[in-house]
Amino acid sequence: MTFTENLTSWYSVNKRDFPWRNTTDPYRIWLSEIILQQTQIKQGLPYYQAFVKRFPKVYDLAQASQDDVLKLWQGLGYYSRARNLHETAKHVAFELDGVFPTSYSELLKLKGVGDYTASAIASICFNEPKAVLDGNVYRVLSRYFGVDAPINTTSGFKVFRALAQDNLDVQNPAMYNQAIMDFGATQCTPKKAACNTCPLITACTAYSTGTVSELPVKIKAKKPK
Ligand code: ADE
Repeated sequence: MTFTENLTSWYSVNKRDFPWRNTTDPYRIWLSEIILQQTQIKQGLPYYQAFVKRFPKVYDLAQASQDDVLKLWQGLGYYSRARNLHETAKHVAFELDGVFPTSYSELLKLKGVGDYTASAIASICFNEPKAVLDGNVYRVLSRYFGVDAPINTTSGFKVFRALAQDNLDVQNPAMYNQAIMDFGATQCTPKKAACNTCPLITACTAYSTGTVSELPVKIKAKKPK
C-alpha cells in the first residue's frame, strides 16, 4: 500500500467529528480555518460555534460592528485575524455578492487568507487538488519520508510543498488533506508519537532510523543584536 492509501484507510476508521466537517459551505470552512490558525482545535471549537450561531451567513458577519466581532473573538488572541476576518466578510458580502471565490488563486487574494487557508478551502469546498501544509503535515511528511530540510526556510517549504502535492489523493483532496492533519494531530504527535499503533510504521523512515523525535527540523531564529 502507498503512503496515501494507508493514510486514507487510517482516516476511514479514525476520522474526528467536527461541526465544520458536515458542510462544504465556503463561509463556514473559511471561518473554521481562520479560527484554527495558531489555535488548538479544543480551544477554537467553542469560538467556531459561537460565530456560526451569531453570524450564520457571511452577510451577518459583514453587517456586524467591528466591536461586536472583536468581542466575540476575545480570548483567541492574534486580533489582526479578527480584523481581517471582518474585512473579508464585508468584501465578500458587498463586493462579491456574497459568493466566495471558488479557486485557490482567487481565494489567496482575500485578506488573511494565505497558502494554507486557500488550499484548505479550495480542496474542502471545491475539490481542487491542492495539498495543505501545516504543522501536522510537516511532521508527518518529514518523518515518513525522512526529510530533514528545515521547515521554516524557503527552500524547505519548497521541498515539503512538492512532497505534499506528490502524495495528495487527487480523487479526494478534501479527505486526504483532513486525513493527514488528523493523523498528525492524534497519531504522529510532536511528543510521544504513537508508533506502536501506527499503520504506517513498516515504511516510516524516521522510525527505522530512530529519528522520530528529531523531525521535523526547524532552524532556530537568530538572536537580534
Ligand atoms: N486544523 C485546522 N483545520 C483542520 C481541519 N480541517 N482538519 C483537521 N485539522 C485541522
